[in-house]
Amino acid sequence: MKTNLSVNINKVAVIRNARGENLPNLVQVAIDCEKFGAEGITVHPRPDQRHIRYNDVPALKQVVQTEFNVEGNPIPKFMELVLQNRPHQCTLVPDKPNALTSSAGWDTVQNEAFLTDITKQLQAAGIRVSIFVNADEAMVKGAKKVGADRIEFYTGDFARAFHTEKRTEIMAKHTACSRLAHEIGLEINAGHDLDLKNLRYYKENMPYLHEVSIGHALISDALYFGLQNTIQMYLRELNV
Ligand code: PXP
Repeated sequence: MKTNLSVNINKVAVIRNARGENLPNLVQVAIDCEKFGAEGITVHPRPDQRHIRYNDVPALKQVVQTEFNVEGNPIPKFMELVLQNRPHQCTLVPDKPNALTSSAGWDTVQNEAFLTDITKQLQAAGIRVSIFVNADEAMVKGAKKVGADRIEFYTGDFARAFHTEKRTEIMAKHTACSRLAHEIGLEINAGHDLDLKNLRYYKENMPYLHEVSIGHALISDALYFGLQNTIQMYLRELNV
């Protein structure tokens, strides 16, 4: 199955914000990522706006031709932003306001009522809903129960285990959860700490992987290889 690459451009916004001007130009970077082969653009606005700012979202919405994915914790301000701008997909992430990065998925059982309500609001606006979960069968079933269209597996645990003897065990959990999700009618995304070393192995062991969203490693690799080469290198790992 073909797996799409969505490029998370948060880190580009970090560089831009460092000088307070518009260099690099985030909108142009999004256009260029698509030109270079990206099949989606992801942004993760956080309440402190330390990378993507809320006002980047309407500007990006106007230019993104592939899939526009906005991810974040569905606090009221985030929901207002997403409902106004209607990206193709909204990925719900339970990150704390000051979190450095998201490091775990939702407890879809504990938060069933809340996630059901949020999912309905987004779907009513025509937005596909993906829920960020750990590779845990109960959380996958919970995501189905709240009405999500997709789940995004948190791959940080996999990435940490990749260079250790725990790699096979962790991968097996992701593979089993992927099969379960497919059986119960959920589409599957994945992301976090995926890179040029671990991506092919993950993809080869995930039978129904629709999309990966990759930011930190991809933008870091682009410093060495350039954005065009880097995107092509990631695409090659995904679609062997
Ligand atoms: N998916 C989610 C839900 C995230 O929060 C992030 C980080 O913003 C990513 C994917 C991408 O992770 P990374 O930057 O490590 O590639």
